[in-house]
Formats: sequence, structure tokens, C-alpha cells
Amino acid sequence: MIIVEELTKRYARNTAVDHISFRVEKGQIVGFLGPNGAGKTTTMRMLTCFMPPTSGSASIAGLDVLEHPMKVKKHIGYLPETPPLYPEMATGEYLQFVGRLKGLSGGELKKRVDYVCERCSVADVRHKLIGKLSKGYRQRVGLAQAIIHNPDVLILDEPTAGLDPKQINETRDLIKSLAGDHTILLSTHILPEVEQTCQQVIIINKGKLVATDSVQNLQNRARGAVSVLVEVASRSGPLDFSMVQKQLEQVAGVSRVLYRGSNSGFSSFEVESEKSFSRGDVARSIVNAGWDLNELRPAAISLEEVFLQLTKSEEKPPLEAAELAGVPA
Ligand SMILES: Nc1ncnc2c1ncn2[C@@H]1O[C@H](COP(=O)(O)OP(=O)(O)O)[C@@H](O)[C@H]1O
Ligand SMILES: [Mg+2]
Repeated sequence: MIIVEELTKRYARNTAVDHISFRVEKGQIVGFLGPNGAGKTTTMRMLTCFMPPTSGSASIAGLDVLEHPMKVKKHIGYLPETPPLYPEMATGEYLQFVGRLKGLSGGELKKRVDYVCERCSVADVRHKLIGKLSKGYRQRVGLAQAIIHNPDVLILDEPTAGLDPKQINETRDLIKSLAGDHTILLSTHILPEVEQTCQQVIIINKGKLVATDSVQNLQNRARGAVSVLVEVASRSGPLDFSMVQKQLEQVAGVSRVLYRGSNSGFSSFEVESEKSFSRGDVARSIVNAGWDLNELRPAAISLEEVFLQLTKSEEKPPLEAAELAGVPA
């Protein structure tokens, strides 16, 4: 549904988006992640035809953003970082206004305004001035204007920025409920949100693509080595941790065993491998040694750790004297 190829945007000396390529399939919610200044907003502006790329291409629903900007805009609903709201208009009046701009009229327009008010839970403030609404309501009015013309694709730039936890939950549920009908690309810096909302993740850093994968695969990849957590207990007195470690290190493929702590008689160990090992072998090794195996599960790593690993900035070379003085090299 969204195809981006070698997309690049340069501002004077600064390359904000540097040859990034990715695809978003129909009906998916994709998280667009990156630290501040990574180029998320710039990419979204190019996808929504607000700004032409310096080079490369992007297409939405098979339409090139440079060749068919008007048609592309029909397929896209866009919620910019700062929603384009008019504080002196009432919610319903504003949604009608946007609907008309998007080519709706008459009964169809009325139907869509009713629908998005209901869908985005802003029906109760329909007659209230936008300037008087809370931040959470304003954000939902922003989403309502983005979907008023029932676009195939939604592009949402930090839709939960500045909201309180309750509003974040409400907005997240709303976005999730919009998937399926719409293909959604959403930028955010809140990682648990991505784990809960998105199937796919695109990570950029300093304008460059660093990863595009499923949340699950990213976690597996960043873990590098395969590791499992095992909980072991001894029936005959206290467990000798170093014996468990020695025993598990004998299992084919195991490279390291770390003691992780004890809780109500059970001790946890993290069993690591460079490549792989059989979980069955790990389990047998424990049971054959006469211990009880309470649990054996993959050691999870949070998306936050993945993100930090992938966007770790390399050491910067020291600035040249000329650069410090602001003189182009
Ligand atoms: N209009 C502009 N003129 C010059 N530089 C810009 C402009 N807009 C953004 N940039 C720069 O481009 C880079 C990417 O910015 P942006 O796309 O806003 O990142 P993000 O949304 O990921 O925080 C930043 O270094 C920013 O300073
Ligand atoms: Mg931004």
C-alpha cells in the first residue's frame, strides 16, 4: 500500500532523510520509530505530498507522490505533529469544513461527519469550540479530520505526544480499532505503545533506515544469541548454584549460564548460546541431575533495548576547526 524507494531529502547541508526504502502492506499498523531529529516528520511530509523529495520515490496505493499529488491526497489521511485545528470553530463545523475541502458534500458529508464524531468519541463536544477542548479531545478531533474522507492510508505523526496516560490509552485503542479498514503508519517515541499497537516496525536514525521487521523478529535479532530462562529447585536441601551452572554448561551448544536470583525456593538461570541448543537437552540435564524444573522459557528483551542497540550512535569524529568556526569544508 505504501512503497518507499531510496527516498531522500536534503536541506542545504543537512540530509534529513537519506535513501530510505520500505514497504507497508494493506491493513497493517506500522510503527515508525526514531530518536528526535531522525527524519520521521520529514518522511511523512514527503509521503503526504507536503514536500517533494530531493531524490528517490514514494507511492501510495500505486500512485506516485510526485506525479499524482491530488489523487494521493484522496487516499491519505494525515495527522501532522500539530493538528491543523481552528480554535474559533466548533468541532462539528470544523469537520464539515474539512470534509468539504476533501470533496464531500450533501448527505454524504453529513453522514461522514456523524460517523467520525461517533468513531473518534467527539460527538459530545460537537457544538463546543475547538479552542475550549482538552488536549485529548483535540487530538481525537485531529484523528476525525484525518479519516473524514475514509482514506485507505493513515499517516499519524506522534499521535499521542503530550497526552496523559489515560488519553494515551484511549487514543491507542482508537488507532488500533482503525486498523484493518485503514493501513496505518504511525510515528512515536513511546516504545511500549509500539509493542502493543504495531505488527511491524520501521526504525530510522539520522535519516538512515536501521531496521524494518516485525516486533518479534527485532527482539530475536537484537538478542543475538539465543537464550532461555530456567527455574530450578532442589528437593534435598538448598540448591548449589555453581553445580547447576556447571551441569548446564555441559549441554551441547550452551556458551554461558548466569545465575539470576532465587524466589520461594526456585532459582533462575539464564542459559545462553551463540547459535542454538535443544531446550529438551537443557530440561533433561536438569531433571537427570535430580533437580526439579519449574519453568523454561525464552528470555525476552524489551523493544526499548532493541531500539537503543540499533540507534546507538557511533563515536563522532572530532569537529574540524573550520567546521567549528562555521566555515564549510
Ligand atoms: N525545514 C527544515 N529546514 C532545515 N532542516 C530541517 C527542516 N525540517 C527538519 N529539518 C532537519 O531535518 C532533520 C530531521 O527532522 P525531522 O524530520 O523533524 O525529525 P523527527 O520528526 O524524526 O524528529 C533534523 O536534523 C531537522 O533539524
Ligand atoms: Mg517529528
